[in-house]
Amino acid sequence: MDFSIKAFDTKNTLAAAKSGCIAVAVYENKKLSAAAKALDVNGDISAALKSGDISGKPGSTLLLRGVAGVAASRVLLVGLGADEVVSEKSFATGVTAALKVFSTLGAADAIIAFPLDSVKERDANWALRALVIGASDAEFRTDGQKSKKDPAIAGVRKIVVAAPSAGLDKAALTQAAAIANGMNLTKELGNLSPNVCTPTFLATTARKLADDYGFDIEVLERKQLEALKMGSFLSVAKGSDEAPKFIVLKHNGGKAKDAPVVLVGKGITFDTGGISLKPGPGMDEMKYDMCGAGSVLGTFRAIGEMGLKLNVVGIVAACENMPSGRASKPGDIVTAMNGTTIEILNTDAEGRLILCDALTYAERFKPAAVVDIATLTGACIVALGHHTSGLFTRDDAAHDALATELLDAGKQAGDVAWRFPLGEIYNDQLKSNFADLANIGTPGAASITAACFLENFTRKYTWAHLDIAGTAWKSGANKGATGRPVPLLTTFLMNRV
Ligand code: BES
Ligand code: MN
Ligand code: ZN
Repeated sequence: MDFSIKAFDTKNTLAAAKSGCIAVAVYENKKLSAAAKALDVNGDISAALKSGDISGKPGSTLLLRGVAGVAASRVLLVGLGADEVVSEKSFATGVTAALKVFSTLGAADAIIAFPLDSVKERDANWALRALVIGASDAEFRTDGQKSKKDPAIAGVRKIVVAAPSAGLDKAALTQAAAIANGMNLTKELGNLSPNVCTPTFLATTARKLADDYGFDIEVLERKQLEALKMGSFLSVAKGSDEAPKFIVLKHNGGKAKDAPVVLVGKGITFDTGGISLKPGPGMDEMKYDMCGAGSVLGTFRAIGEMGLKLNVVGIVAACENMPSGRASKPGDIVTAMNGTTIEILNTDAEGRLILCDALTYAERFKPAAVVDIATLTGACIVALGHHTSGLFTRDDAAHDALATELLDAGKQAGDVAWRFPLGEIYNDQLKSNFADLANIGTPGAASITAACFLENFTRKYTWAHLDIAGTAWKSGANKGATGRPVPLLTTFLMNRV
């Protein structure tokens, strides 16, 4: 979808605007929004509202043709809820409904004249972003690997957004588009079949990004990982015939002396569980076990496109978790890059085994903060469902501040997270009789003990962990990656500039 912004006023009126369709808001209290009033030249809009043909409930729509005094061919009334104070959810529902109607019209262009400045506790830039991301989501295709493509997208292809009287930030539109494009990359990588989206494919994708946006890139191969003594990462990779890749991207948008923010993504391109093999039903969805990595690449695409003035390092640890004659066995003890010995009690707890070495590697960047992103635990879905990502940090002042930044960014971006506790009492659940740490905890609080495991490798910097097991993709009829938490991460980085 092609978006642009235009201001309408008393000289340059909405009623005189030539367009295939103008979408305006109405409410359950039967009041007209300002834009609806501007189109009510001969009372057609108020008459339609009075007729009861549209309830005003969030997402209700009524399409009118040939409205008297209006130059546009059609007017679409869209319900945004009870009254002029619009909730985030009602706004999003209204946007989705309008876009759905747009896609059925015999018109190629439209104007959205929604009350962008009336969303509760949000500003117009937020609403604009919700619109752009909503449109991008609606037109996202999953037919890349089908021999016969889904029908081409029909209807409106160009949307003019009517600016509210206070205007919009110049950059808001490009930033929104960059986030949407970043999310699309994350979704595409997630949805790709795991025989295509291998560690090598992720490395190739990262190289393309580096070419397109001028990032520095380094891809470490098995030999180099051996030289670095990444015994924990390699213990997962060794069960697979696919070569592991350790990808390091650098976006040098800030001053040379500024410490970077480091993002670390779990890139298990398929998680069978290894010798602790997972049950069959739904196992295909473990192709999404690289969504943490995908979100790092998607966030890089977004900050590259918007030319963010911040130093950011992205690390992706990518391999498959497979059972084979060369795979790790329960009981194996391996030595991580920082010298910690780990007893692998369950080969299906592999995410933490690859991340711990990536987190040790991150030390060399003397980071301002490190955030790792991982589809780490099924237990996180039990705790939070599919709505909210899990956030884990230590609870001192520096980490409270980082947690607040991430939680606020999530709220701002409509990509929410919720914080869990960490601490010694949980860390004690990871004791092993034979090694420094076990890779699984005693029963209970499995998402927290997983985060605790990682915490052991992050004591040299400020760190947070995002468990996106529930939020990275959707199952069922609409199976597909969501592109989360690219909005949260990008907003977090934008707020740091
Ligand atoms: N990738 C999975 C976590 C996962 C499972 C994410 C289902 C989304 C949906 C991870 O590698 C894993 O297998 N975790 C185990 C840990 C357990 C063995 C301690 C889990 O959550 O069951
Ligand atoms: Mn696993
Ligand atoms: Zn996994």
